[in-house]
Amino acid sequence: MTASRAQHPVLTIDGPGGAGKGTVSRRVAERLGWHLLDSGALYRLTAQAAAKYGVALDDVAGLARLAETLDVAFIAEQGRANVLLEGEDVAQTIRTEAVGERASQVAAIPEVRSALLARQRDFRQPPGLVADGRDMGTVVFPDAALKIFLTASAEERARRRLLQLQEAGVDASLPSLLKEIQARDARDTQRAVAPLKPADDAVELDTTELTIPDVVDHILRLLEDRGLATQL
Ligand code: DC
Repeated sequence: MTASRAQHPVLTIDGPGGAGKGTVSRRVAERLGWHLLDSGALYRLTAQAAAKYGVALDDVAGLARLAETLDVAFIAEQGRANVLLEGEDVAQTIRTEAVGERASQVAAIPEVRSALLARQRDFRQPPGLVADGRDMGTVVFPDAALKIFLTASAEERARRRLLQLQEAGVDASLPSLLKEIQARDARDTQRAVAPLKPADDAVELDTTELTIPDVVDHILRLLEDRGLATQL
């Protein structure tokens, strides 16, 4: 990382799946005119590419090589975030539960995490970056200007996921979603490398009772207080 790049401000938004990180990060980035890193998408893309090329989930060297060489692009177009894997738009297919499950396994492999480190830091470009993930404030951008840790109860996160799936016309049941969320939380928080946990200097926000606009406004105010965002 160059000295000048390190000066571009970073806002990290970490937390468990379903706490609202994706939507909140996108809206905050739009309001600020900053870049956006959806780091979970990189793990999902690695898992998807592994399935495509028949790389087994226990082939550590093969997975790390894939993570390092993955041909991916994130293109924002008319409010839509296109995610391209070798030129093919996979924005929808990487969001399935099956890919999420494989991504969680891939994300527990230290060699994959270090292969993705430099890629993630490359997103730090002027005027600033909003980085969404699990270890943005603890590992990838420890010098971030503001670190947020978003949470919500597992029950509320399961309800939100059910609504999302129903809106997309996908059948799902609340008890099975809750079980999946609890299993994913356990794997993400208990893994040996870069486990999901708030950075010591993170601001924790429980979104169980909050709307998305409330959370966005709160974060923007925190940025303003630190002199990082003006004229919003
Ligand atoms: O946020 P998401 O559901 O798209 O993330 C997919 C998986 O990747 C999830 O199991 C957690 C993992 N992940 C991670 O370990 N570190 C990150 N910075 C982002 C996601």
